[in-house]
Amino acid sequence: MNWETLPDYDALSRRAASILLEAIRSDPHAVLGLPTGRTPIGMYDRVVHECSKQYHCFREVTTFNLDEYVGIPREHPGSYFTFMKQHLFDHVDLDPARTHIPDSMARDPKDECARYERTIVAAGGLGLTFLGLGSNGHIAFNEPGTPFDSRTRVVELTPSTRKANAPLFAGDRVPTRAITMGIGTILDSRQIVLLAGGKDKHEAIARLQSGERTIDFPASALWKHADVKVLVDTTAM
Ligand code: GLP
Repeated sequence: MNWETLPDYDALSRRAASILLEAIRSDPHAVLGLPTGRTPIGMYDRVVHECSKQYHCFREVTTFNLDEYVGIPREHPGSYFTFMKQHLFDHVDLDPARTHIPDSMARDPKDECARYERTIVAAGGLGLTFLGLGSNGHIAFNEPGTPFDSRTRVVELTPSTRKANAPLFAGDRVPTRAITMGIGTILDSRQIVLLAGGKDKHEAIARLQSGERTIDFPASALWKHADVKVLVDTTAM
């Protein structure tokens, strides 16, 4: 695991954006795994900014989001589909047919999970996946207790995760379930970049740094992977 400490959130976002842009420059057919949450917003802003200054081609790039809530329409302001449109999809030349997010309204969410796994394989597998970090160590929506070989599936969200994500559902009930890539699905990505900024990630980062590997702390699965970069800002250290 390769650790980089950046002085602040802005520097972390710039570094993450440069990794993403370099990946699509060196491979225009890159397959990216993409996160949502507050942490990657700066990375997406920076990517969009750089693309407006200097043309970067996303046309042949394929993206797979890590997760999506179950049972809310794509257009809902709290959906990850809406998030991705706002922060990336509407601002770069990604082909909508190459952007993938689990279908929140699938009639059979279990079938949707199997279809999602098949689509990743058909695209050649994830090349570079960016992750955020939950304060309890979750990655995507893989909560503590998730086996490291888990695949894309429907999960119940913990009260703490629902609380953390509640601001996106002002007035509406926060969804109780989500479809998430499994830890095994994420570990199949050839490269992984974990982003963690801010004081509320300090404990989780300290636990990750300890090297302990346990399913009680999902991010510790990343120690099993040969190519993981962790970008942290000084407040998270
Ligand atoms: C959500 C997402 C995760 C994300 C986490 C941390 O639960 N499903 O993928 O990493 O929140 O979010 P934030 O970056 O807002 O702290």
